[in-house]
Amino acid sequence: MHIIKTSETLIKHLNALRESNLKVTTGLVPTMGALHTGHASLIKASVKENDITVCSIFVNPTQFGEAADLETYPKPIENDIELLIDNGCDILFLPDYKEIYPDTYQQQEFAIDGLDHKIEGASRPGHFQGVCNVLHRFFILVCPSGAYFGQKDFQQTVVAKKLVAITNSPVEIRVIPIYREPHGLAMSSRNIRLSTKGRQNAAFIYRAISQAKEDVNEMELHEAIAKATQFINAQKGAHIDYLLAVDTTTLDEAQTLESANEIALLTVVEYEGVRLLDNIYLKNKA
Ligand code: PAJ
Repeated sequence: MHIIKTSETLIKHLNALRESNLKVTTGLVPTMGALHTGHASLIKASVKENDITVCSIFVNPTQFGEAADLETYPKPIENDIELLIDNGCDILFLPDYKEIYPDTYQQQEFAIDGLDHKIEGASRPGHFQGVCNVLHRFFILVCPSGAYFGQKDFQQTVVAKKLVAITNSPVEIRVIPIYREPHGLAMSSRNIRLSTKGRQNAAFIYRAISQAKEDVNEMELHEAIAKATQFINAQKGAHIDYLLAVDTTTLDEAQTLESANEIALLTVVEYEGVRLLDNIYLKNKA
């Protein structure tokens, strides 16, 4: 695996590969490092579908509200490199701040139809604009055919799709299913903050949303959501931040299953003081 730290070297390297083979396809997996098996599933998907896989590790300051969160973000680079090599990644792009945001760079405000202010965005002002800025930079530098994102951060996938649409970018946004721990909890670096018992128990979140997916075949959407809410609230120490069904294009709340072509149930549950995100499709496009 090549480890490349500057944009100039990255562009030269990719150009050389593309000159020798015009049909070469490139998959990009943008990350902030501290990689786990969930990230590995994105790398695997890209390796399978492309000739070259580029993984970026860049802890993007423009998407962090609190400076403290940015400073304490884990950086286990040796482990990350090992995981990337083990999963067949070709290039690790490891830029510093100036490579992505040179002095001349002006942060842009992307017109993404208010997607940045909804759900997660409501409590994280500027977060999704920060994500758009960094993705836009990566798309220009790497010119990938596909960019790989986890369904786990559902809103981020919707925002990324909107970004490529409004910028006329030829990148296909590929959404990879949530990688789960054996009991069902969505894999996340935050999971280590749970107790051993809590980490097993937290599978109740996945059980609740999976049950709701079955229940919508037999009851109204609001009834299925009420049932899931009741189930989660009955778990000691669990606190629902939100549990709502949304139209996957607009992220507007869906009142019935018929109100949109595609509907997902999104949730955040606080458990043992940890904010756990999860989601499931209730209705997929035919
Ligand atoms: P990061 O939190 O490092 O996540 C990188 C990618 O890994 C995201 O697309 C995320 O959804 C995916 N991922 C995380 N846990 C997963 C799991 N259990 N199963 C499948 N995929 C999972 O998200 C970011 O970085 C940043 O916002 C970024 C897109 C890199 C922009 O800075």
